[in-house]
Amino acid sequence: MKTIDLRSDTVTKPTKAMKEAMMTAELGDDVYRDDPTVIELERLAAEMVGKEAALFVPSGTFGNQLALLTHANRGDEVILEGNCHIKKYEVGAASVIAGVQLNTIPGHLGKMDINKIKNAIRGENIHFPKTSLICLENATGFGTVLDIEYMKEVSQIAKENDINIHLDGARIFNAATALNTSASNICRHVDSVMFCLSKGLCAPIGSILAGSQSFIENARKNRKLMGGGMRQVGIIASCGIVALKEMTKRLHVDHENAKYLAEKLEKLPGFNVIKERLNINMVFTTVDNHINFPRNFEEKLLEHGIKVNGYRGDEIRLVTHHGISKNDIDEVVNVIREKVFK
Ligand SMILES: Cc1ncc(COP(=O)(O)O)c(C=O)c1O
Repeated sequence: MKTIDLRSDTVTKPTKAMKEAMMTAELGDDVYRDDPTVIELERLAAEMVGKEAALFVPSGTFGNQLALLTHANRGDEVILEGNCHIKKYEVGAASVIAGVQLNTIPGHLGKMDINKIKNAIRGENIHFPKTSLICLENATGFGTVLDIEYMKEVSQIAKENDINIHLDGARIFNAATALNTSASNICRHVDSVMFCLSKGLCAPIGSILAGSQSFIENARKNRKLMGGGMRQVGIIASCGIVALKEMTKRLHVDHENAKYLAEKLEKLPGFNVIKERLNINMVFTTVDNHINFPRNFEEKLLEHGIKVNGYRGDEIRLVTHHGISKNDIDEVVNVIREKVFK
């Protein structure tokens, strides 16, 4: 049975071009800094986000936590939005690895109020930790994007207070596509950015941390400390090069497919797609309580080869990606209509 997997864009598989690139990749020992494929990936990645240098890391979580470790000292405070990935979904790593204190600000769709950020910055006082970093997330886990004007405002506050900004840009190219701009235009307002080559860009493994030359030099050493010094890793970096050159250009297809899916779901009885959060490749919907739609709908769908995550709170999230076509979406909606409703 064919599988249609809408759980996440993390389920994407390497493309044919990636597999071919792996076969022919020139390799070296990247800890000695002589893997030409990694060097090329890092050069290209830095260029695409407009930073001086970049570093290949095993995962998005690794890249974010490496950024915290490199920007901050133990006991420093990091300001970030309460629902962001770094705070909520990275196993409390910030307290274990960087040893920082997180000062979370409740936001709206991943956006912290500017005045609340200002108020959260610590002044000079013997009792206070030092505020050394602000983290932003773009695109956000809510399926939304932060506009450039907002990023600029946060950057101004950070500069005035001599604080760095790290961007969790796991889906930075989705954000750039949605904002109709370049990733470098978004990243000009931050000191460092992490983005994933896996997820929507289809590489099997790997993320990038980018920033100034000196920041990346420090991060390189910290990456080794964290056990992330990899050897003949050009074998997977080769996929990252394909991801950046080819796959960033097609993300608009996933965004269009998300809108197509949203339109179709909206026609099902009781479905309320959250339209204000339809910026990227994610569709969020609630379903009215009185409708005969089972709470364990994911089990029903699985019987028909369709994989989705179940409810998170009251919401269902469906994610489009390279492996999902409009025909797949038609099929999913038909199965929901014909087989899942009781
Ligand atoms: C916004 C965001 N940041 C970071 C990550 C972490 O990436 P990884 O799963 O590669 O550790 C994710 C993963 O889904 C994410 O959505």
